[in-house]
Amino acid sequence: MDIQSSAQAAVPGGVDRAVLGAVSQGWGGLDPEQFRIYGKQVIDWIADYLANAERYPVLSPLNPGDVKRQLPAGPPQTPESMDAILADFDRVILPGITHWNHPGFFAYFAISGSAPGILGELLSAALNVNGMLWRTSPAATELEDVVMDWLRQMIGLSPVFEGVITDTASVSTLIAIAAAREALDRRVREDGLAGRADLPRLRLYCSEQAHSSVEKAGIVLGSGQAGVRKIPVDDEFRMRPDLLAAAVDEDRRVGWLPFCVVATVGTTSTTSIDPVPAIADLCGRERIWLHVDGAYGGMAAIVPEMRHVLDGCDRADSIVVNPHKWLFTPIDCSAFYTRHVDTLKRAFSLVPEYLRSADGDVKNYMDYGIQLGRRFRALKLWFVIRSYGVEGLAAHLREHCRVAREFAGWIDADPSFERLAPVPLSAVCFRYHPQGVDDEAELERLNSRLLDAVNATGRVFLSHTKLNGKYTVRLAIGNVGTMEKHVAQAWDVLKGLAVR
Ligand SMILES: Cc1ncc(COP(=O)(O)O)c(C=O)c1O
Repeated sequence: MDIQSSAQAAVPGGVDRAVLGAVSQGWGGLDPEQFRIYGKQVIDWIADYLANAERYPVLSPLNPGDVKRQLPAGPPQTPESMDAILADFDRVILPGITHWNHPGFFAYFAISGSAPGILGELLSAALNVNGMLWRTSPAATELEDVVMDWLRQMIGLSPVFEGVITDTASVSTLIAIAAAREALDRRVREDGLAGRADLPRLRLYCSEQAHSSVEKAGIVLGSGQAGVRKIPVDDEFRMRPDLLAAAVDEDRRVGWLPFCVVATVGTTSTTSIDPVPAIADLCGRERIWLHVDGAYGGMAAIVPEMRHVLDGCDRADSIVVNPHKWLFTPIDCSAFYTRHVDTLKRAFSLVPEYLRSADGDVKNYMDYGIQLGRRFRALKLWFVIRSYGVEGLAAHLREHCRVAREFAGWIDADPSFERLAPVPLSAVCFRYHPQGVDDEAELERLNSRLLDAVNATGRVFLSHTKLNGKYTVRLAIGNVGTMEKHVAQAWDVLKGLAVR
């Protein structure tokens, strides 16, 4: 059926014409004037929300199923009014929101957005361009080139690195490892991995503290979990380069093919920083691709006196830093850099006829990763960088680290609490450890109960990890609105609820 006749079939007897009239074109049930009115209403709502995020319980108090129960099982057959939709947003959706914008959000890493980032995101939604090819929106491609180069300069990375924006660090790390595999020149792209007598099993290395995305990449890329070797860490949770070297040696001897090391700058549990210079030496010697996961910690290099966090990273083959983690850019936005763009493109470029263009020597970002369709993420990052300025961004990051050190000092000074890791960046690992209680199971029970009690207050949200088998509470500062008073409040809540 051609397009013409299918359109006619969709409007028999003019019945659907009435529906089409009511939901004309991109306006849905609105007209341009109503769009303007509701748009202003929504912006007003956002402004009030951002100014008063503390009004809400930071962790949603709902139980599983509470939201779904209030929603119809099937979609509406006819248009609903925007008033009704916005009323349900308030009534049904909002109570089920955990407020990442709340300055008391200290769990995980606070992916903190910001007002300029929201405006950029809004315009990107309005333009709704797909930046797969240069011609599908030259500005999307060229702005991405520019902001990625700005960010490269901001973190002090060498100009040999070229960047591409992906959705998440998990995907950035996945494409890094795919490029590492391609760099082997063993025809994996063409022939795959399975059933190949000519190809040893591939081995990928990271520390015991690396993010689970590394192992997931191993699963996706065919090395399997068995192909991911986790290197022990030192007493500050940093990868041991001597044990990495021994592991590579041993693997080569028994027939593995080492192809990639992922070092982390700012591990998820403790924000420890792997010794990248020593790891880079080894990777250079062994001709192994070095990828640096700086998803959270890499941003600290924007602060001039903290630039050392990326020491050695100029010698890496690729690196990821996440503007959506610690650069006040709404999720999602991950910045991936490599010095081997040709290898990355060799891994991923596949151009069918319908995507060919005669634009000459232009960059088509579809060649730089897995996905074809790409959101215009550079726009919000551009808004954020311009609106804060590099010094403004550095000031926030610096302050987060200062307040984290302050909090660590309070923990250290209290005999009922114990700090469980150094504080190189803006997260503090600790536990309640009342004198006379040394049984690990009892300490775990006390601390998990404390965490539940603290989170139930709605004033702060903390998460946990395990370090050397010890149940560990984490307070990670990354929200753009978090100030010392919020951390002091968290400390008061913790002390008030810590009971045996
Ligand atoms: C060190 C590190 N790497 C990677 C990730 C994954 O980030 P994303 O959610 O962008 O995939 C995280 C998430 O917290 C992380 O802490």
